[in-house]
Amino acid sequence: MTANELRDKYIRFFVSHGHAEISGASLIPQNDPTVLFTTAGMHPLVPYILGQAHPAGTRLVNVQRCIRTIDIDEVGDSSHLTFFEMLGNWSLGEYFKEEAIAMSWEFLTSAEWLGIPADRLAVTCFAGDSDVPRDTESAGYWKQHGVPEQRIHFLGREDNWWGPAGETGPCGPDTEMFVDTGLPGTAESRPGVSDGKWMEIWNDVFMEYNKQADGYRRLERRCVDTGMGIERTIAVLQGKKSVYDTELFTPIIARIESITGKRYGEDDATDTSIRIVADHTRTATHIIGDEAGVSPSNVGQGYILRRLIRRAVRHGRKLGLSRTFLSEVAQVVIDMYAPIYRTLERKRDEVLRELTGEEERFLDTLRKGEHEFEKLLPNLQKNPARVIPGRVAFRLYDTYGFPIEITEELAGEHGMTVDRAGFDEAYQKHQEMSKTESAGVFKGGLADNTETTTKLHTATHLLHQALRMVLGDHVGQKGSNITQERLRFDFSHPEKMTDDELARVEQIVNEQIERDLPISHQEMTLEQARDAGAIALFGDRYDEVVKVYSVGDFSREVCGGPHVAHTAELGRFRIVKEQSSSQGVRRIKAVVEPKQ
Ligand code: ALA
Repeated sequence: MTANELRDKYIRFFVSHGHAEISGASLIPQNDPTVLFTTAGMHPLVPYILGQAHPAGTRLVNVQRCIRTIDIDEVGDSSHLTFFEMLGNWSLGEYFKEEAIAMSWEFLTSAEWLGIPADRLAVTCFAGDSDVPRDTESAGYWKQHGVPEQRIHFLGREDNWWGPAGETGPCGPDTEMFVDTGLPGTAESRPGVSDGKWMEIWNDVFMEYNKQADGYRRLERRCVDTGMGIERTIAVLQGKKSVYDTELFTPIIARIESITGKRYGEDDATDTSIRIVADHTRTATHIIGDEAGVSPSNVGQGYILRRLIRRAVRHGRKLGLSRTFLSEVAQVVIDMYAPIYRTLERKRDEVLRELTGEEERFLDTLRKGEHEFEKLLPNLQKNPARVIPGRVAFRLYDTYGFPIEITEELAGEHGMTVDRAGFDEAYQKHQEMSKTESAGVFKGGLADNTETTTKLHTATHLLHQALRMVLGDHVGQKGSNITQERLRFDFSHPEKMTDDELARVEQIVNEQIERDLPISHQEMTLEQARDAGAIALFGDRYDEVVKVYSVGDFSREVCGGPHVAHTAELGRFRIVKEQSSSQGVRRIKAVVEPKQ
């Protein structure tokens, strides 16, 4: 079973069970301040799980590209990936546990679909705790399908609970499906113990609650959210020990082998570096090549991207490369995915350029750091213990961006070591900050639909259109983020805006507010929306039904809402700041205030 066959079968199966296929969302969430990247298929659907009507109906299925970088520094083993594709089906207030489990069982075991022998499957259900009861109902359905009791395990929140990526949002118990890989295992082997014997391939989440700052509230409609990771599932179905042994990685690894002259499978250190280069280049390619793609920078998504690229470069060095090479690896990734994600083809040159540019900047950093290290060397060598103090290593890191591993490498070449504990201590604070970022979580909770954020959302549409009028049609949305305090809008524009341009934009927006334009929306296909002149991130699927919001005769944009009913509700619009966001992208922060 190839990845393409699995993708195809999953969609066909759920379509045959009344689900509408929807396209995956951008990897970079729009208008959601809670996460940096789309981390699961349910994420773009949160507003619908919380009660909004989805234009495609109440049974949905799709493939969603996901990024999870919480363990970025641990990737390199044979199973962790920072990018993966997730198959998912949803019930928005329709079927619940019984039908979800029946469909999962049919898809997994029926010869027409995956045909996994029933005796190779096991499941886990939520054991219950003081907040939420034990999920005996799900266990009962598994039993009805013939799963024996010893193959049904009850586990706690760590294993069988799906919570929101931020601090608030929909959540509930889940039931997970595992396949026996055939490895010998031990007496302790069971689903939930990661010793390679039982591999999880699917997760059915039963969303019943909305977690709020003050506790759990029941959702008005119960929903089902499921997720099956393509990479891991095909590895199990193909009897491969690792995702890196499947057709999704072998061509990438072959290219790395030919560039470096190393062999995968030769020794552990080489394998780790090859896997890191393969995984990180693949993820970076998808981030830059997304319809809302970003460039490397020091904040938010751009910062994660930078870390991925730099870590790949570092491991390229370990493999013996001191020149730029990532674009050669990225070509393979683009060839592989462009037939499915066509934006990648359109952005091929941009992806290659961005990767090489960042590689060059990092190689430059390394050269400068090496130079600095050499200047410090005579002093360092006076230390009889031949240990480089942690604070010196940290200064190299902090001031020159010089990675500790490279300081250690250089120290080794001069017969010295680095006080790693001292470095780690100095690094701690910095680490805590970047950990929060790489978890993809901002403080502050779920994108809420409060009055202020709704107003700011409408203001964002007015701002977008006003920018196009003042600066030109090259202005396109590159990112949007709304909090209680302000809107933040990133857009393509090559240079700093003048005071006059800013004043004109502000004036145009305020005129539209004063005109008290009504806001309405219509559903249409993306193609019709484009023909009607609506602004959108036109992705890959033009036949999909979307919502188009119109602000009077002034702006028309594809968007999920919500918006105010009339523009006068916004009060007064004020631009607080205009600054650079990344190469060719400007950022505006603005607020709405009560009219004086
Ligand atoms: N949202 C669930 C997951 O990602 C299905 O596992």
